[in-house]
Amino acid sequence: MATPPPTGPLLAVEGLTRRFQGLVAVDAVDFAVAEGTVHGLIGPNGAGKTTLFNLVSGVLAPSAGSVRLDGRALDGLPPYRRTALGLARTFQNIRVFSEMTVLENVMTGLHTRLTAGWGILVRSPAFRAEERAAKARARDLLAFVGLAEAAGTRAGDLAYGDQRRLEIARALACEPRLVLLDEPAAGMNPAETHALLGLLRRLRDERGLTLLLVEHDMPLVMSLCDRLTVLNFGRRIADGTPAEVRAHPAVIEAYLGTGGHDAGPRAVPQSRGTAP
Ligand SMILES: Nc1ncnc2c1ncn2[C@@H]1O[C@H](COP(=O)(O)OP(=O)(O)OP(=O)(O)O)[C@@H](O)[C@H]1O
Ligand SMILES: [Mg+2]
Repeated sequence: MATPPPTGPLLAVEGLTRRFQGLVAVDAVDFAVAEGTVHGLIGPNGAGKTTLFNLVSGVLAPSAGSVRLDGRALDGLPPYRRTALGLARTFQNIRVFSEMTVLENVMTGLHTRLTAGWGILVRSPAFRAEERAAKARARDLLAFVGLAEAAGTRAGDLAYGDQRRLEIARALACEPRLVLLDEPAAGMNPAETHALLGLLRRLRDERGLTLLLVEHDMPLVMSLCDRLTVLNFGRRIADGTPAEVRAHPAVIEAYLGTGGHDAGPRAVPQSRGTAP
């Protein structure tokens, strides 16, 4: 009997490079994310994490290298096509539609999945049925992230941590297989961070989602992630389990600046990023 072909990683990044004039922000980075895992991407401020997210999501074009989602090359595809293939993201600087309600914000994510087409113009029965279903689904997602009570609130009036959870609900509305989260705990208090940890665990364990997580909150990263890739000055300096990475000399040096970086300590692991 033929053995089934081995399943590859859900996300494969190979030789990924992005230059900005003289600066190599992402420098020949390789890593792979297995389906159903939480994979952390960590490194000091300016290491290239957000740039790498922009390359994977299609916001920026690479100078070299490739990104594959479930074996399919994403080269040249714009962000909306990548979303349709199952890739969603949140942003380091929150991007909610402040003037819209919380529910409407989630529904903007659902529109990538609506099919009524021209029926929207005449409010056809098919469109109205779809709209009702979309509202129900948006409410489900809000309940899942703990924002059910806030459905009618203006999004701009939500507390900071709640806006971050709203962004996650909107990302989930696209029915992704892989979600990229850029510093979801930034600006959260310890109770909010703890709730976020539970939410991200449930996404993996109950919904089978795959998460690629950039985060400076090391206790969160270490307790949540199955695997970590560490960047410093655009280069991958370590890759492994949290325990392996924590003990890696290059990682200790990058975070503590013991190797003679002139600025001394760069970003302590517990710091919360605030840069855009
Ligand atoms: N559009 C751009 N033009 C020029 N340089 C850029 C641009 N975007 C990022 N950079 C530079 O690339 C490097 C990597 O930046 P990036 O934002 O990816 O880092 P990061 O790891 O996300 O940092 P942080 O933890 O502070 O968010 C930095 O030196 C940054 O100044
Ligand atoms: Mg960043």
